[in-house]
Amino acid sequence: MNDRWDPVQYNRFAAEREQPFWDLAALVEPVERPVVVDLGCGDGRLTAGLHEMLGARHTLGIDSSAAMIAAAPAQPAEGLEFALGDLAAWEEPASVDVAFANASLQWVPDHRAVLARWSESLRPGGQLAVQVPANADHPAHTVAAELAAELLAEPPPDPVAENVLAPEDYAVVLDELGFGDQHVRLQVYVHHLRSTREVVEWVKGTTLTRFKEPFGQEGWDRFVDLYRTRLLGVLGDRSPYLYPFKRILLWGRYS
Ligand SMILES: C[S@@+](CC[C@H](N)C(=O)[O-])C[C@H]1O[C@@H](n2cnc3c(N)ncnc32)[C@H](O)[C@@H]1O
Repeated sequence: MNDRWDPVQYNRFAAEREQPFWDLAALVEPVERPVVVDLGCGDGRLTAGLHEMLGARHTLGIDSSAAMIAAAPAQPAEGLEFALGDLAAWEEPASVDVAFANASLQWVPDHRAVLARWSESLRPGGQLAVQVPANADHPAHTVAAELAAELLAEPPPDPVAENVLAPEDYAVVLDELGFGDQHVRLQVYVHHLRSTREVVEWVKGTTLTRFKEPFGQEGWDRFVDLYRTRLLGVLGDRSPYLYPFKRILLWGRYS
């Protein structure tokens, strides 16, 4: 199980990270007391909000990070529970009304196969709602990959670059999997950060976590310092800094 996640670091940009979550939730059409699964639920704070917003009978939040699940609400609302688990392997045939995954699917490969498993877990008429980042071409990502390639014999690949499909490919996959209705869009979120240095703090909570294991904690700290220097060389040491962030939102109704 991956445990490089740090809920405190991740939540430093909680407001910015929340907007796509609620934009995704807004795509879910109302269902009477649905059964919901939130795949890659993180610390569960937003899962609790989703459970309430959808008026769910039961919501299961699943995450592979013990640190994230440990940070989940200790006394969750009625019908809300959390469990350790792998979103790539999760399946429960014809059991849920809404399968929801915000900013988590990008961590695993073979999205067609994973989305097929999730769709088979939907009841007839069930809904799939998924959001993935699509910003692998931003220097925040390319500089990390470039630097890691110089320092590591086998640098872990950027999951966003490796795993995330083009928006139109998700549309094709949804259609092939039997989603009669669908909505797929690329959206640019505009984040006003205090400075370019904050981009480093942002990715420390997400994409740079993949380097914790190969470098070890001290090596990772040094890597982050080198990364900061190089990134500021590319973006400039600017204040404020506008961080444009592309994301793909997809929704489908299974028929
Ligand atoms: C960027 S966070 C998003 C958390 C939450 N969905 C949100 O919107 O705030 C990504 C989460 O995906 C989880 N994750 C990554 N790979 C996973 C896997 N294979 N199975 C389950 N969870 C995974 C991580 O542990 C992390 O909590």
